[in-house]
Amino acid sequence: MPAKTTPPPARETPTPSPVPEEAVTPLIRGIAVLTELTAAGGTMSLSDLERATGLARSTVDRIAATLARMGYVRLDGRDAVLAPPVMELGNAYLAALRLPALLSARADALADDLDESVSLAVADRDGVRFIHQATRRRAMSLSFRIGDLLPAERTAPGPLFATEWTDADWNHWRARRTTDPQDHGFPAIPPRHHPAPNQPGANQPGEGCDDDTTDFVRRTAKAKAEHWALDDQLIEPGLVAVSAPVRDPLTSRIACVASVVSHTSRHTAADLRTTLLPRLRTAVAAMEEDLRQAPPAEPGPPPAGLALWTGASKQELGREFVESLARGLTVLTAFGTGRAALTLTEVAKATGLARATARRSLITYDHLGLVTPTADRAFALTPRVLSLGFPPLSRTSLPRIATPHMTALTDLLHESTSLAVLTDTPDHIQYTAHVPARHVMSVHLTVGTRLPANGTSAGTVLLAGRAEASERTEGGAGRAEASERTEGAGRAEGDRRTRAEGTNAARSEAGYALMDEELEEGLRTIAVPIRDRNGRTVAALTAATHAARRTLEECVQDILPALTTTASHIETDLHVASRFTHVPLT
Ligand code: PHB
Repeated sequence: MPAKTTPPPARETPTPSPVPEEAVTPLIRGIAVLTELTAAGGTMSLSDLERATGLARSTVDRIAATLARMGYVRLDGRDAVLAPPVMELGNAYLAALRLPALLSARADALADDLDESVSLAVADRDGVRFIHQATRRRAMSLSFRIGDLLPAERTAPGPLFATEWTDADWNHWRARRTTDPQDHGFPAIPPRHHPAPNQPGANQPGEGCDDDTTDFVRRTAKAKAEHWALDDQLIEPGLVAVSAPVRDPLTSRIACVASVVSHTSRHTAADLRTTLLPRLRTAVAAMEEDLRQAPPAEPGPPPAGLALWTGASKQELGREFVESLARGLTVLTAFGTGRAALTLTEVAKATGLARATARRSLITYDHLGLVTPTADRAFALTPRVLSLGFPPLSRTSLPRIATPHMTALTDLLHESTSLAVLTDTPDHIQYTAHVPARHVMSVHLTVGTRLPANGTSAGTVLLAGRAEASERTEGGAGRAEASERTEGAGRAEGDRRTRAEGTNAARSEAGYALMDEELEEGLRTIAVPIRDRNGRTVAALTAATHAARRTLEECVQDILPALTTTASHIETDLHVASRFTHVPLT
């Protein structure tokens, strides 16, 4: 393995341009912190962040405090940890792009049909960034996460995108190959140490890039002639992929590239062409037809009153709150479904920021490659917005989302808390997360434990939720769910809660279940539902106490309000995280 000779270059920026005078420095710094945290997999100590960003410790502390206030990170001892609300930035890009909402169902169906992973990717300068992943659960499958960036030349989609590259794009690519020969700027993939198998053109780091260049140019010419491309283990031994472009019906340019990913134990690269490519092409034709038929995007409501809370937070946190960072970040959330290109005036109006503030934020984002000017003096988000926290969180699960909130609840109540779901076995529940209280007589449950649903408060809540769901499907409300899934548009949070509560009240007046002497003598538990984006009960949150500690009335009076608040925090995170990614419940 050759020794590392050059320090890793700044991420994704081979040729940094001078910082514009009007750029907002705290915003640049906050973005640097989010980018480093994302590249590190979502968790970094504050001192590592200090080292990675080159910022002063006090600056890192204030940025971290501000991001924590926004809910984008959690401060856990000395660590900063990305939290699900940061996904609203990537969601804004994916909603504005609209392709995941329009095409992901077809990609999922193709994955089911072929029993192989299928992805959708867009071009991100000389890289390839994933916007959807339909993955298989099997031992030998490597797949990337939504938001991961790969170097174009080491993928199947890359040569297809490169058929549309300008001279400037090729120059940018050559410069990047020279400054970053080992691909350190791509944290999602292993660095290059030796030529990839079957790649006679792959070169040793530091040897110059002539063969590599020739090879990619050749693959691009082939992709141009054939309208498909292969990845024969360019990233990892065993990983093979075949790709075809999905063209925009209006411009005929490539909107995204669909890929089928497999392993050499199942398919050789050559055999992908004969077995999988025909079916990929049929699916791509259907995707293009879907794009042709898609009605214009209905703009959702702009996020309300964004600028207001930043002032309040400043009042409360003082110096520790970097208001210009918080304000700048809200600019990204002004974009979304039907709001793909916004003028400065529209951004200011949507966020409630002063025009000058919105303008300086947009100048900063343009400099950072996070927005791009469009025709008509408007701006659009770029795929790079997905590098702000999305990939590490796109593989989360409900227990992982819930655990920090449950820990806070246990700390507050000094009672054990658990999360449970219904199992495949009829009328049984299974515990999926548990946070024990720290006093002597506390409830300890093993995650994975299965119990009959009847006789537990969690089971009662879950069975009520299931009855409610089947009633809704029979009543035709199921259609609303299907259309939300396909359009992917977020209903206003307020709407959803009202509806959920309304339905809930109709089922079990109180919206919670209280169980005395459950499982064993003296044990008292109280549970509330956790609902998904469609208002369906998907889990139950429970707090457990002992008869000697609280009366039944005290359970309702003292525990229920905090339990309900925690459930709604978990739901908020779940709804953000599941807008464009599949969040497993266990
Ligand atoms: C993927 O979807 O994980 C994928 C697609 C194309 C490649 C490599 C990986 O070339």
